[in-house]
Amino acid sequence: MTDEAKAKQQIDELRRELERHNRLYYIDAAPEITDREYDQLLQSLEQLEQRHPEFASANSPTQRVGGAPIGGFENVKHTVPMMSLSNTYSKEELLEFDVRIRKLIPEAAFDYILEPKIDGVAISLRYEDGELVRAVTRGDGATGDDVTTNVRTIKSIPLRLADMMPPAVLEVRGEIYMDTAGFAKLNEARQDAGMEPFANPRNACAGSLKMLDSREVATRPLDAIFYATGELSGIKFDTHEQMLLSLKNYGLRITPNYWLSDAIEQVLERLDELENMRDVFPFEMDGGVIKVNERSLYDDLGYTAKSPRWAVAYKYEPEQAETTLHTISIQVGRTGVLTPVAELEPVQLAGTTVKRATLHNEDEIRRKDIKIGDRVIIEKAGEIIPAIVKVVTEKRTGTEVAFTMPTACPVCGSEVEKREGEVALRCINLQCPAQVKNWLTHYASRGAMDINGLGESLVEQLVDCGLVKTPAELYTLQKVEVLGLERMGEKSADNLIKGIEDSKKRAFEKVLFGLGIRHVGKGAATVLANEYKTIDALMAADLQSLEEIHDIGPIVGKSVVEYFQSLETRAVIDQLRAAGVNFEQADNGGSNELEGLTFVLTGSMETMTRDEAGDKIKLRGGKVSGSVSKKTSYLVAGESAGSKLTKAEKLGVTILSEEQLIALLGSDEAIADKNAGQMGFEF
Ligand code: IVH
Repeated sequence: MTDEAKAKQQIDELRRELERHNRLYYIDAAPEITDREYDQLLQSLEQLEQRHPEFASANSPTQRVGGAPIGGFENVKHTVPMMSLSNTYSKEELLEFDVRIRKLIPEAAFDYILEPKIDGVAISLRYEDGELVRAVTRGDGATGDDVTTNVRTIKSIPLRLADMMPPAVLEVRGEIYMDTAGFAKLNEARQDAGMEPFANPRNACAGSLKMLDSREVATRPLDAIFYATGELSGIKFDTHEQMLLSLKNYGLRITPNYWLSDAIEQVLERLDELENMRDVFPFEMDGGVIKVNERSLYDDLGYTAKSPRWAVAYKYEPEQAETTLHTISIQVGRTGVLTPVAELEPVQLAGTTVKRATLHNEDEIRRKDIKIGDRVIIEKAGEIIPAIVKVVTEKRTGTEVAFTMPTACPVCGSEVEKREGEVALRCINLQCPAQVKNWLTHYASRGAMDINGLGESLVEQLVDCGLVKTPAELYTLQKVEVLGLERMGEKSADNLIKGIEDSKKRAFEKVLFGLGIRHVGKGAATVLANEYKTIDALMAADLQSLEEIHDIGPIVGKSVVEYFQSLETRAVIDQLRAAGVNFEQADNGGSNELEGLTFVLTGSMETMTRDEAGDKIKLRGGKVSGSVSKKTSYLVAGESAGSKLTKAEKLGVTILSEEQLIALLGSDEAIADKNAGQMGFEF
């Protein structure tokens, strides 16, 4: 085989392997490898693809991070129109639907299938010979927008069907939605950034799909569920259920629940059951869809101009409640954004007592004409955060009072400003106690510096007593100062000081996350730390170089650049550095005797996990790869090593046992001592 052919084979194998792991993770929820191992495989593929640009493919798993922004979306005609469903809110109408069907096909025996109606954005995916070639929105049903580049970033959507013999054409239709938990997080981040929050997950999803920069789309928590077909060639399904199960086998996500019934009365009962499951699903469900299961009857039943006669949507009423708005309070977030919050007369809604509702910003209060003292209707938006839908104006007594946002920060009294392009008001004082408290709590949190004993109430006291104004000042805290605080004994004071001291050793990525740079979550912090290695390199990075990094979108890039432009920020970083906080990635304590060597780990080990072994190798300057190639220096074979071992043997790669690896690694102490010199092992 030529080198070219070998590379092609390797690339194909890696792509297939990555797709399989993707499926195990996103569809079956049963991953076989760690995220780290997945990333390593992906990295190997990236390297191979870089060396062999002739084998590039838009459907490679490496392309899921999105690409350069596009100018607009092309219009595409649907080969089979995308119809909608007739809707009803009434069970009587469902009985009529059943009567109509039985009249149209009096002789036929059939079942109904009930599935959740997902409130997202309809999409049609076209697979040709198993390859995803196009993703088009519904549009007006006849033509839609080509959003393929954006859809490719949705990790649960297979870029290639999981079948060696896929049909010539498979068009699947379904719903793209934004995960409800992810939606809440996204909105929080938007508010922190002074941007208008999305009204609900559906809008957030539609907005995301229409973004011109697919790298940004890749950061949005989008997912998809499929429930119908369009054009088909080389495949046929007898029933809807059979179609769903087939889609599942191809690696496409289908509804987590569906019910078959042979009588409409049973469907009605199940609709209630389904409604009770609203909170269980990760998507917003606005009703149930009832379809005839036998696809062979579809032609006989036919279609109206807009919808099939063999299906109907039953919509649930959104859960609402009426209550009184007592007052509007203002919260100040970590980035200083002022958010108005409605303080309500407690009321029961969808199984919980609601006392507060978010009002987002002043524009929203104006738009809805909300006044203090109003009777209001509240609803759970996205089934998570209650929101005020409208004011019951008929119940106004004339005593209601209009609300205006404060002109000064309610916490520190400083000026507030509205930045260009933002709707939110912001407190300009970086030392505002509210901002400082939120910042310190974040800095000390488990995912960041993990400072033992420094929780919200202690932060509250430290700031209120004027002891700490920035994370840097934590490191100059004296035990005597801490001892003066409420409920603070000798032992807790010692623990706190020790916790702060210990935090100096945290990995660079944790420090970076702890700095609280807008839009830089844990994931982005890790990527940045790995890429730049030191804070100086990161501070010197320009927008272009940041944007070139995988997983870093333009919004994060811009935010990082802006963050380091601030003199206040630079001062805090200097102080943290002077205190001894770690601003460098990993290799402190490491060495380089394995530099230039690439290891592949396979099978299970006795004394450590593969991840731990990988860390130890990297600490010594070695590389760890997910797949065996000619470039592999050593294959470490644990218990029941499989195909990688066979391949390594074939390629003549040196095989190491676990004991040999341990010997090669030497002790961690020896590594810390950089003068340990030659380890003296030969293979
Ligand atoms: S079937 C030809 N099933 O609801 C009929 N639609 O109001 C194809 N929807 O346009 C649609 N969940 O976007 C079907 N389980 C489900 C659905 C579903 C959500 C959407 C779909 C459709 C709209 C109609």
